[in-house]
Amino acid sequence: MNEKSRLFLDCDTGIDDSLALLYLLARGDVELVGVASTAGNVPADVVAANNLAWLDLCGRDDVPVHLGSPVPLAGALRTAEDTHGPHGVGYASLPPANTALSSVDAAGAWLAAADAHPGELIGLVIGPSTNLALALRADPDLPTKLKRLVIMGGAFGAAGNTTPVAEWNLVVDPESAAEVFAAFDRPDAPDPIVCGLNVTEQMILRPADVERLRECAADAPLVHHLAEALRFYFEFHRSQDEGYLAYAHDPFAAMVALDPRRVTGVAAHVEVELTGALTRAMTVADRRGMLGPPNAVVVTEADTSTMVDELVASLGALARRVTSRG
Ligand code: BDR
Ligand code: CA
Repeated sequence: MNEKSRLFLDCDTGIDDSLALLYLLARGDVELVGVASTAGNVPADVVAANNLAWLDLCGRDDVPVHLGSPVPLAGALRTAEDTHGPHGVGYASLPPANTALSSVDAAGAWLAAADAHPGELIGLVIGPSTNLALALRADPDLPTKLKRLVIMGGAFGAAGNTTPVAEWNLVVDPESAAEVFAAFDRPDAPDPIVCGLNVTEQMILRPADVERLRECAADAPLVHHLAEALRFYFEFHRSQDEGYLAYAHDPFAAMVALDPRRVTGVAAHVEVELTGALTRAMTVADRRGMLGPPNAVVVTEADTSTMVDELVASLGALARRVTSRG
């Protein structure tokens, strides 16, 4: 019997996506079924190269990496090199991987993973929802095949980080997020668990956490690359007047994906605004049944200081393990 959690990751790597991917690799109780590379923080091919590079560094060439659509469902792609660096990993310069991309594209990989593990698969989306939406168009019953879906996206009772009211993953491809919420709005599918900025901005990494990583595995190449990635992310947040720190949005969602009981959430009907001139991509959460019955669980509270400690300890242990492997 497989005691491991089976998880399919969809990401736009990305500095905090990198942390989430490495956290999942650090966890011995996770079977990472595949990694979909979605256009967002950087173009899809750069995301894929980053995913391959991190996996290669960790000796995990067994995990397939899938290329996603180069563009959102509607409109042109917007990327965030100002936030994540010219290649999505800050100042880190990762050795390019020798491994190749899977021949299965990201949407096809979602479908294959769900079909291969009916009722067991945890889906985790920490980038725009483009490829999940494409998979749902191909198989509207996909939601019924998942154990759970966890999404990093939106802002609930909190300001946006890309527009005054909207969060980055939603802004890049709002139509896809709207299609995802609509597709899961059925009684025989799990309600997506949504981690918005209201909670993910509480999960804060600081230089002291990088020092703790160094103490775990001082000479580990993985720690060096992470420190260089985080240095850029700290500088970006300081340039936004938020302090010399970084929000660990995506690792937060990864931790919730593996154990939703560690956070508090409320049932709500979530819709995505698609037409507002000022409010496009805003997530609207209705807890009073005005828009319909609940179709999501919105995360509202978490013990983020414990989560940061666990993230740092896990990454440190992974770095030690990878280094001793030689
Ligand atoms: C989200 O946007 C991206 O830049 C991060 O990787 C995270 O997924 C936070 O708004
Ligand atoms: Ca991301």
